[in-house]
Amino acid sequence: MKQNLFDPFDLRGLKLPNRVVMAPMTRARALEETPDDLTVRYYAQRASAGLIVSEGAPISREGTGYLFTPGLYTREQIAGWRRVTDAVRSRDGRIFAQLWHAGRASHVSLQADRIAPVSSTAKASGDMAFAYQPDGTPGRVLASTPRALRTNEVARVVSDFAAAAANADQAGFHGVELHAATQYLFEQFLNSEVNDRSDQYGGGSVADRIRFTLEVVDAVIERLGAPRVGIRISPYSTVGSMPADAKTEETYRALAGELATRELAYVHVHDTSGFADDDGTLQRRLRGLLRHMRAQMPGTAVVLAGGMTLDGANELIDGGVIDLAAFGQPYTSNPDLVERFRTGAPLTPPNPATYFEGGVTGYVDYPAAIDSTA
Ligand SMILES: Cc1cc2nc3c(=O)[nH]c(=O)nc-3n(C[C@H](O)[C@H](O)[C@H](O)COP(=O)(O)O)c2cc1C
Repeated sequence: MKQNLFDPFDLRGLKLPNRVVMAPMTRARALEETPDDLTVRYYAQRASAGLIVSEGAPISREGTGYLFTPGLYTREQIAGWRRVTDAVRSRDGRIFAQLWHAGRASHVSLQADRIAPVSSTAKASGDMAFAYQPDGTPGRVLASTPRALRTNEVARVVSDFAAAAANADQAGFHGVELHAATQYLFEQFLNSEVNDRSDQYGGGSVADRIRFTLEVVDAVIERLGAPRVGIRISPYSTVGSMPADAKTEETYRALAGELATRELAYVHVHDTSGFADDDGTLQRRLRGLLRHMRAQMPGTAVVLAGGMTLDGANELIDGGVIDLAAFGQPYTSNPDLVERFRTGAPLTPPNPATYFEGGVTGYVDYPAAIDSTA
């Protein structure tokens, strides 16, 4: 029998009623860096997803890379997220928190006392950050030159992740997803063109480059248990001025081999080939890697995001390529995406002009097609 998006899925004990995942999306509306009434409404409206992954939640002040992103490191933030998870749970939904450290994709105006952001390297990305401009107003500014973490500081960052995972648990999340995709701190260690360290977290060997990621994975597993931990990766991505890396295949195969022994809930692959105007090469390579990972990690679900459609996702699920499909932009403008897919109701096109900032507009004001009480 054909499998599709509407089949239930057992995510290491968490029963998902369907295979539609709401992809993590930063919405930059938390003016106090704490989830508020609007955040609660936004996620509650989307509770029919098989699984929601929250927007990236900074694990620390140091990990913050954008203005107005709700973190998971203060008492107030935990209480704010508790209201979100309560609202999602009361609508029979499930939600993981995405744990985020932006590394060098940050700006001194987001850091305590305007100190430099940290990274695997002291090289600047040359990319833009969303932070405070010299006149004090929010806007796009060049990301600041980072400071390379000293070897003996890495353990402190690992423990910040573990603490944020414990905070996510306290806030009522079903689990956590480590944001190891698209240019942020984990990728800054994984990418051999960026990671220029000579210690055990770089040093030219793949085992060294993946060490930081695995230390975080293990520390977070210790707090929550592997069935409640997922990880997001984006092999081959050049988003955020990340240089193409000839060692991608080697790095991610080694990572997959190590992750296989941890039996995480899922690996979430973000296919960014759409951004790169790819002629198909990147996507083919990524799919090859995906097949390899799936074969290596039979106990771990595979989630794919990036340009998913109803038909495309059904084909990949039925073909055994993926277990779950994640939708980003369609979820901004279709809070009831699952119902629309199920009934064939037309999708409301997303509006990129309202992705970030903007309060209510383009955030919680998209009506459901069927249930107008949402
Ligand atoms: C407004 C917006 C914010 C995003 N924020 C995040 C984020 O915080 N963390 C993350 O891993 N990906 C983020 N993404 C990427 C999405 O999760 C998703 O992978 C991407 O949009 C591709 O899926 P789509 O083609 O269905 O939109 C963001 C995307 C958008 C459009």
